[in-house]
Amino acid sequence: MKELKIAVIGAGLMGGGIAQTCIQAGYEVVNIDVLEPALEKANNTIVKLLNKKVEKGRMTAEEKADILSRLTFSTDFQSLKGIDLVIEAVPEKIEIKKETFSKIDSYADEKTIIVSNTSGLSISEIASTTKRPEKVMGVHFFYPAPVMKLAELIRGIATSDETYELVKAFVIDIQKEVVDCPELPGFIVNRILVPMMNEAAFLVMEGCKPEDVDNAMRLGANHPMGPLELCDFVGIDIMLATMKGLYEGFKDSKYRPCPLLDNMVKAGCLGRKSGKGFYEYK
Ligand code: CAA
Repeated sequence: MKELKIAVIGAGLMGGGIAQTCIQAGYEVVNIDVLEPALEKANNTIVKLLNKKVEKGRMTAEEKADILSRLTFSTDFQSLKGIDLVIEAVPEKIEIKKETFSKIDSYADEKTIIVSNTSGLSISEIASTTKRPEKVMGVHFFYPAPVMKLAELIRGIATSDETYELVKAFVIDIQKEVVDCPELPGFIVNRILVPMMNEAAFLVMEGCKPEDVDNAMRLGANHPMGPLELCDFVGIDIMLATMKGLYEGFKDSKYRPCPLLDNMVKAGCLGRKSGKGFYEYK
């Protein structure tokens, strides 16, 4: 068992994936969410993914049991007592992030470091809701978190060197490669990746078939997934919110969100999770 005790706040796709990444690396984790069903869903997903690894012969049943023994779930922020590092992964809305950070700050021990998995919001603004802005920074994971090798590190204006070094060492220890990012909307990956996905949506709006756009990028640029498949995979709503963040953050028309994405979200076509996006899912 590793020394640092970890809490992951939020049991959505990212929170569950981050919790899984940490327990697989030997850390003890409590996954906290205000919604009990979200915790149950996260638990089921993690168990299913680990079962798949056992079936494929990548892990023994004993290893799986050992990994799962390090994970607990809670709906109570009192569970933050004794935690060294909190990883926040709640929905990507500044008001929700700020409210969550203020709540974490009031329950967590004084020594506790808090990181946000924001994909582009201001770390300094989020940190300003706490009495410990020097112990706050951003660590942006990618979906699916247990598989994707990168984590972006983002320092807020007040983040101390001590916090940065400790968090960086932890992220490397959970087997991620790190890059330092400017505290600007989209950081590095989303600033490049999401406008590409947005441009793919424009192509569809102009009459291209989604299959043609995706085949073109998979075969012509060696991307593991086409940009529209990827939109469906991460969620059209998440993708649109990230694009809007770039547009509002830089006030530059080159980041204008594609109106088709807006219409799809209004129609409830959110990608894989809703059964329909650029493609249909059974
Ligand atoms: N959750 C967890 N694990 C998953 C998963 C999921 N949703 N989907 C696949 N995996 C795991 C599988 O279990 C498998 O694990 P093992 O090797 O241990 O068996 C591994 O990934 C490979 O899966 P597959 O063999 O089934 O499929 P694949 O080789 O086609 O890879 C993929 C799947 C890794 C998702 C690959 O298609 C890929 O890399 N796609 C691009 C993903 C990407 O670009 N992500 C970034 C999104 S942007 C973002 O996250 C930022 C943001 O803020 C919006």
